[in-house]
Amino acid sequence: MKRTGNGTTQNRALLAWVEKMAALCSPEAIHWCDGSEAEAAALSDQMVKAGTFLRLNPEKRPNSFLCRSDPRDVARVEGRTFICSNNPDDAGPNNNWSPPKEMKAKLNELFSGCMRGRTMYVVPFSMGPIGSKIAHVGVEISDSPYVVVNMRIMTRMGQAVLDALGEAGEFIPCMHSVGAPLAPGEADVAWPCDPENRYITHFPETREIWSYGSGYGGNALLGKKCFALRIASVMARDEGWLAEHMLIAGIERPDGEKTYVGAAFPSACGKTNLAMLVPPEGYEGWRFWTVGDDIAWIKPDESGVLRAINPEAGFFGVAPGTNEETNPNAMASLRGNCIFTNVALTDDGDVWWEGMTPEKPAHLIDWLGQDWTPASSTPAAHPNARFTAPITQCPSYDPAWEDPAGVPISAFIFGGRMRHTTPLVFQAFNWSHGVYLAATMGSEKTAAAEGQAAMRRDPMAMLPFCGYNMGDYFTHWLNVGRRVPNPPRIFRVNWFRRDEEGRFLWPGFGQNLRVLEWILNRVHGRGSAIESPLGWMPRYADMRWDGLDFSEGRFEELMTVDKDEVRSLELRDDLLDQFFDRLPKEFVYERQLLRSRLWRSPDHWRPARK
Ligand code: OXD
Ligand code: MN
Repeated sequence: MKRTGNGTTQNRALLAWVEKMAALCSPEAIHWCDGSEAEAAALSDQMVKAGTFLRLNPEKRPNSFLCRSDPRDVARVEGRTFICSNNPDDAGPNNNWSPPKEMKAKLNELFSGCMRGRTMYVVPFSMGPIGSKIAHVGVEISDSPYVVVNMRIMTRMGQAVLDALGEAGEFIPCMHSVGAPLAPGEADVAWPCDPENRYITHFPETREIWSYGSGYGGNALLGKKCFALRIASVMARDEGWLAEHMLIAGIERPDGEKTYVGAAFPSACGKTNLAMLVPPEGYEGWRFWTVGDDIAWIKPDESGVLRAINPEAGFFGVAPGTNEETNPNAMASLRGNCIFTNVALTDDGDVWWEGMTPEKPAHLIDWLGQDWTPASSTPAAHPNARFTAPITQCPSYDPAWEDPAGVPISAFIFGGRMRHTTPLVFQAFNWSHGVYLAATMGSEKTAAAEGQAAMRRDPMAMLPFCGYNMGDYFTHWLNVGRRVPNPPRIFRVNWFRRDEEGRFLWPGFGQNLRVLEWILNRVHGRGSAIESPLGWMPRYADMRWDGLDFSEGRFEELMTVDKDEVRSLELRDDLLDQFFDRLPKEFVYERQLLRSRLWRSPDHWRPARK
């Protein structure tokens, strides 16, 4: 079989696995990736020739490409995602389950000959700084050159990883095929896939990933959701650490004090914006540092400090809505060396998406390759259009991203999108209360009628990403905090509360730094607060208002605890009841404590004036 690429290894397990997978998939050639610039350039050229990539105007967007996927392959497919543990209860009600033997038999059939006429790429990657005690290595086998060039941005990929693996190093095998073998002489399509037969499967006991039929994002870049969250969450449970769907950011005060936080939000809550926050007026001399925007791996060090790395090396961000106002640091990160998937193309060879500029361009080619004008009834970019950009291009990039020791986490922040009921910020009374607050977070159902508090719970923003039973995951969280001497403080936030007229009560974006400052003050033992039925809360005078005209009355509206609303929202047993047999006892008591605090509370609790 033809062998290409300059990657070399003596790793016995890897050589044997690649040989076995080649025998199964029958590719035309095997390419061992070295991760070099030359390799990425050659693959990009090859994809331009094949019509998969379109080179963007080098003056506007140097070394950048537009890619349009098959319109049937545009997002993660949770309905086709499986956790194949031996025991269905170990996958839990939060996952689709299939018996491992059955799934393996199906996969064997699907993968048999699935790379005919294609090249099989071997993609060695490290999640986290190579050699870090918190990092782990994976190897993805894929027949998609799009996957290779994306993995090169999203992870540390190439020969350095093979060198670190040595002869006997361990790796997580990640098997991927777009599922579109080519018969001899058959012409390829720009985006091969098999939408009828998609399987995104995880085997937690043997720590393997097999993904078939999709070339898009989290279905195909297996280092991200599949490894760094679903499989890593199982490793973390077994080994006493945390693999979380969290951004990591450092906040530096003018006096040089730098504090790191991890923050989890379900999708569509501005997580990438928060990860790259720009300090507002009144915060001169403050610096905000980005370590990661999506995933955190957090391990206790020898002295029990929880230290976090961002296992990724790039952003795979949602493009629509990103602009110079909402996220100037993301826009600057996209200046070149990027891949754009399913965005629109401008007449001068640049990219555009809904919300990128206040005015819509007069003419575009939309994500389907069709002419588009502002009169068109469909969006120019797909709502899940993405950019792939190296983290080092972000102006707020924190050099500590490279630190193999990770950064010390002082606070965990959990947020959702709630129009009603949930105040701007409150702090858990203690670790187990904090874990309960994190487990009961969520976002308002979009279809919920005005005035009604209906929440789709998404514990720790991990519902689609926890690779095992979430009841056990809650217990694991409780245990992690118990095992360390001074666990991070836990907070809930909600940037999205609205007034009677439906207007946002809180300006959000850079102004969120005011909330973060109060959080830092609490963490460092210098911030005052008042006890509310939900947790510790700032009074108006406990937050800093320099540079923002925000009245005490409005603040009270933002912080009100409406007893009836909270009762109907927080005491409903819906999601947690599904885990009843594995739910930690602490949660039952936390709910009772909340019930009794509410019982004693006035109908509309407000932080007293100082
Ligand atoms: C993501 C997600 O793509 O959470 O990061 O869906
Ligand atoms: Mn995510």
